[in-house]
Order: sequence, then C-alpha cells, then structure tokens
Amino acid sequence: MTKKKPLVVVTRKLPEAIETRMMELFDARLNIDDAPMSKQELIDAVKEADVLVPTVTDKIDAAVLAHAGPNLRLIANFGTGVDHVDLQTARSRGITVTNTPDVLTEDTADMTMALILSVSRRLAEGERLIRKGEWAGWGPTLMLGHRIWGKRLGIVGMGRIGRALARRAKGFGLSVHYHNRRRVHPDIEEELDATYWESLDQMLAHVDVISVNCPHTPATYHLLSARRLKLMQPHAILVNTARGEIVDEPALTRMLADGEIAGAGLDVFEHEPAVNPKLLELQNAVLLPHMGSATIEGRVDMGEKVLINIKTFVDGHTPPDRVIEGLL
Ligand code: 8YV
Repeated sequence: MTKKKPLVVVTRKLPEAIETRMMELFDARLNIDDAPMSKQELIDAVKEADVLVPTVTDKIDAAVLAHAGPNLRLIANFGTGVDHVDLQTARSRGITVTNTPDVLTEDTADMTMALILSVSRRLAEGERLIRKGEWAGWGPTLMLGHRIWGKRLGIVGMGRIGRALARRAKGFGLSVHYHNRRRVHPDIEEELDATYWESLDQMLAHVDVISVNCPHTPATYHLLSARRLKLMQPHAILVNTARGEIVDEPALTRMLADGEIAGAGLDVFEHEPAVNPKLLELQNAVLLPHMGSATIEGRVDMGEKVLINIKTFVDGHTPPDRVIEGLL
C-alpha cells in the first residue's frame, strides 16, 4: 500500500517549475488564480492541511492558528521574513515554521543599492520628466542630484542582506557604518571596512544614507520612530527594503514633505498594499511595490527551499531552514 501524500496548501501562485515539483512530491493544493486568500480561506486551509505554504500577504495570526487541525505540523513560508506568522502560537501548538533565507540576499541587496542610487540621482524623477514630455533639453543645472561616492552609509541590521549591501556600497565608494544588536565578528568588520555604532541614535546623526536591513520583530517595530528619524541630517536619505513596520511611516512622510530629510526609497510599507497617499505626492520619494527579491531566479530558488524544507520535514528530519524565534 502506498503511503498517503501530505496535503500541502500553497496560498499564492508560485513559479511553474516549483508548482510542478510540488504536485509530483505532495498532494498539493495550488492557487492558480493567485488571488490572496481571505481570513476564512486561511482558516479552512489550516483546518485541513498537513503543511501550509504562505507568503508575506497571509496573516497567520493566533486567530487563524486557533483553527489549525491536528494534521498541521509545518508552516513552510515562501519568503525569509516571518513577521506575518505568529511564531509563539505556532510553537505552542507544536507547529514548525521554516523560511527561505540566503537565496534572496543578493537580489535584495541589489535593490537596496538601486534605491540608494535612484533617490540620490533622482532616477524616477528624471524618468517622469521625459514621460510627461517636459524635457526641454540638457541644462547645466537640470536634475542635479547628490554624489554618493565618499558619503557615509549607515546600515541598520548587519545580517546577510546588510553585509551584501556593505560589499556593494564599498564598490560605490561609500564608507560603511552599521548598528546591530550584536557587533559582528572582527573578520567581517575588517572585510567590509565597517564601523560599528553601538548607539543607533548616534549613527543616525552622523551618516548620509540610512538603510534598513533588519527583520521586523516586536523589538524592531518603529525602531525608526519619529524621535529617531529627527536625528537624521537634513541632507540625509533613508531606504527601506526590509519591512514597513520598522519605520514610523507617517512621521517619515511628514519629514519628507517638510524637507527635514532629503529623500527616501521605499520598497516596503507599513500597511501593504496601502501606501500613505501623501507619499505619492512627493518627488523625493522613490516607491516600489515590495519587489526586492523579485527575480525569476530568486523566486525559483525560494521555491526550491520550500520544497526541501517540506520534504525533509515529512521524511522525519529537521528541515534546514527551521525558524528559531530567539535568533531572528
Ligand atoms: C518576499 C520578503 O518576496 O522574503 C521576504 O522576507 O520580504 C520578500 O522578498 C516575500 O516575503 C515573500 O513572502
């Protein structure tokens, strides 16, 4: 008698190669239409599934997990950030959570660098000028931005993405500064030429570019509060490719509008997909729809990780990317 395959519910449409493999390996219930699931649909999914594969758009909170059936043993998240999953409740119900680290590091660091350049050199504004038919020709003072070479970059969160950004930033002539809960190993500091700031407040006041690269946890919610944002220099810019919740978005918007800081590049927002309407009016904000890891290669690699995590788990082993709360 062949063993029954585990029921794997995938909440969003994944790259085709991943869905094909998912169907070969498991009893996979896919979301071909890609419509984000409602709370009720998520509840129905956790009632039945052996494994749930959610993404950042699914809020797997205590209310949803309260309906988890006895079969649900694994939440294999498609993505690295797991702030949309109530980890504590999952743990208390004996549900393992996995994620997809490493494979999106380089793509996200690329996007962070792209935002730093876009804001400093006014890429989006220039593009809009041409498309609106308002470009009257070259001018010596037209679209002047700011040089990034020789400036100071302050990285908030020196994990994988922070380090990958630091490597790129060095190549662009930025000096690297960072704040992290723990100081990184001296060998890494040496490799990255990175200066550690124990005080985030101090770092904010001394750098030209701030990049948010830490995970969103209860401890980092509004880490960049209105008070802290005010410590930034008026010519400084902020980019965020991590999570919107880490920055007080209304405070940031007000400061951008009032010219208290020079610009912002945001790939993530506090209440996605909603974007503060006042941000939309600002020329000095570059806004992207959460696409930091959006490369076909990256999304296939993320899917491979999900497959490996599920397969390892259902075969009775510890999955390689088990999320351990305390290590986030
Ligand atoms: C993903 C991300 O696309 O992995 C993450 O944490 O923020 C994104 O790059 C998204 O989370 C997929 O669920």
